[in-house]
Amino acid sequence: MEIIRARDYDELCEHAATMIIAQVQQNRHSVLGLATGATPTGIYQKMIADHRKHGTSYAGVRTFNLDEYVGLAPEHPSSFAYYMRKHLFAHLDISPEQTHIPSGVATNLQVECQQYEDAIASTGGIDLQILGIGINGHIGFNEPGTSFQSATHVVTLTESTKEANRRYFTKEEEMPTHAITMGLATIMQSKKIILLVSGKHKAPVLHRLLNEPMSEDLPASILKQHSHVTIIADEEAWNL
Ligand code: GLP
Repeated sequence: MEIIRARDYDELCEHAATMIIAQVQQNRHSVLGLATGATPTGIYQKMIADHRKHGTSYAGVRTFNLDEYVGLAPEHPSSFAYYMRKHLFAHLDISPEQTHIPSGVATNLQVECQQYEDAIASTGGIDLQILGIGINGHIGFNEPGTSFQSATHVVTLTESTKEANRRYFTKEEEMPTHAITMGLATIMQSKKIILLVSGKHKAPVLHRLLNEPMSEDLPASILKQHSHVTIIADEEAWNL
């Protein structure tokens, strides 16, 4: 795993955005794996700024997001579909047909999971996957204990994850209990991966990731087995 130590959040975003933009410029048909949460928003802003200033085009790019809440339609302001439109897609030359996010309101969630896997596979695979990390080591919504062999599946959210994401919901009872997520095996099939770690609340999990052996108790530890992973962590995430 290559590790980049960024001075601060802005530098973390600069590194990640530069890598994504380089990927798209090298191959205008790139398949990008995208993430939500607080961490990637600054990266998306830099991609939008670059698109406006230098004209990097996303007209041939396809994207697959990691996850979506079960029960939230794409119009719901707390859905990841809404987040992606707001923070990125609405500002790039990319059409809805090019972007993929699991549907949290599919009538048959198992079929939705299989179709999502098939859709990723039909592109030839994700060229560059962006990941954040949960304080319990989850990536996507793959909570501790998830099988390393897992494909896209439905998960029950842990209390810790619900707690961390509650701020995105106006009413307590709106907080979903389940989500669809790419599995750990799905993520591992990506050709290159960038893991973003920002803020002092992530320092304990970064320390665990760098020091503990690979184990299903720490889902992100599966990345140790991948040959092209770059961890970008800002200074706060290093200070235990
Ligand atoms: C959510 C998402 C993850 C994300 C994590 C950390 O649970 N499903 O994909 O990595 O939160 O988010 P943040 O960047 O806000 O810390």
